[in-house]
Amino acid sequence: MEYNIKDINLADKGMLKIEWSSMHMNVLKIIRERFRKEKPLKGIRIAACLHVTSETANLMITLKEAGADISLCASNPLSTQDEVAAALVKNYKIRVYAIKGEDTETYYEHIHKALDIKPNITIDDGADMITIVHKERQELVDEIYGGCEETTTGVIRLKNMERSGVLKYPIIAVNEAKTKYLFDNRYGTGQSTIDGILRATNVLIAGKNFVIAGYGWCGKGLAMRARGMGANVIITEVDPIKALEAAMDGFRVMPMREAAKIGDIFVTVTGNKSVINEEHFKLMKDGAILANSGHFNVEIDVEALERIAKSKRKIRENVIEYTVNNKRIYLLAEGRLVNLAAAEGHPPEVMDMSFSNQALSVEYLVKKGKELDKRVYVVPEEIDREVARLKLKSMGIEIDTLTKEQEEYLKSWELGT
Ligand code: ADE
Repeated sequence: MEYNIKDINLADKGMLKIEWSSMHMNVLKIIRERFRKEKPLKGIRIAACLHVTSETANLMITLKEAGADISLCASNPLSTQDEVAAALVKNYKIRVYAIKGEDTETYYEHIHKALDIKPNITIDDGADMITIVHKERQELVDEIYGGCEETTTGVIRLKNMERSGVLKYPIIAVNEAKTKYLFDNRYGTGQSTIDGILRATNVLIAGKNFVIAGYGWCGKGLAMRARGMGANVIITEVDPIKALEAAMDGFRVMPMREAAKIGDIFVTVTGNKSVINEEHFKLMKDGAILANSGHFNVEIDVEALERIAKSKRKIRENVIEYTVNNKRIYLLAEGRLVNLAAAEGHPPEVMDMSFSNQALSVEYLVKKGKELDKRVYVVPEEIDREVARLKLKSMGIEIDTLTKEQEEYLKSWELGT
């Protein structure tokens, strides 16, 4: 079996990590049990381009139990957990092509290697794999029933492909499931971003001016958690509705030009490019810390920082110090996803829901993919609700049910005051 990982001898360490995550992924476990019995993916080839973490490993194992043949590559050069990659190869015979710190050329080589499986289903986190299929590997399209996309940035790219009329197979936007974005994007990003910043810097959050660019679900979660740790949270936005929401949630809202002068810690979660740029670097205080938690490393203009800096040195693991106008600016994890590069990504409890949506969406595509148009679809409502129901059950939480009269009332229109 072909693979390319850092060191197969890390497998035992990886197994322990996978087991630990599994203990906190109870919905996926239930799905895995059913898949093991029913084998709904028997004979299906899946190529996945995801962050190679212990949570992703649990998804891969679930798909394998369902009968699928799988290849996996990284969706970010810095997010791979090498020990997990080793365990997947050694103990589960899954072809993995991922090495933490791989260069851009190797990153794309690995996507091509994963695609050599000639997939029936692709799974992406950020749409790099499907982009390669469309640009360079069109010969694969005929055998692909559909694809799943994990994240906001990927869904934006895929909708642009649909709008431009170039999308060649149907996509399930897993990110659009409520049991995904309301939990993974909000509580997952909220916690794991702080985790990444703390592991990299060990600075105190309390009392700091904590600037967050972007008030989508990720920004909201991060703002909530930073406030909980005593930071003075400042939001920057371009969307007037989100800005208003941030203001009424009690945060200060201002342009980045103003925030740049007073921020101690900056985090970008916008999905857009050059949100913190040369103009802003020059305004920053001595000691400002910059991190990105958006999908791609384009939100902080690192090229400009490299260009204008007088000097540069590595001061800690995942922390580079730049000197700009005699002031020190600290960039975390090269401006790549700080939560995955400097920490371990979202906790398993939220990835449980995201990846349960993935597993059930793959099953849905195998059943229904051939009937779907070449469009981006949301996760079917019944899958989303089933994931919520199973999660509540696994948490030991019961809820009420509608009575017959209440059901009738909700369907009626005659009754008023
Ligand atoms: N994206 C964010 N956190 C993740 C994790 N722990 N595993 C896989 N993908 C992720």
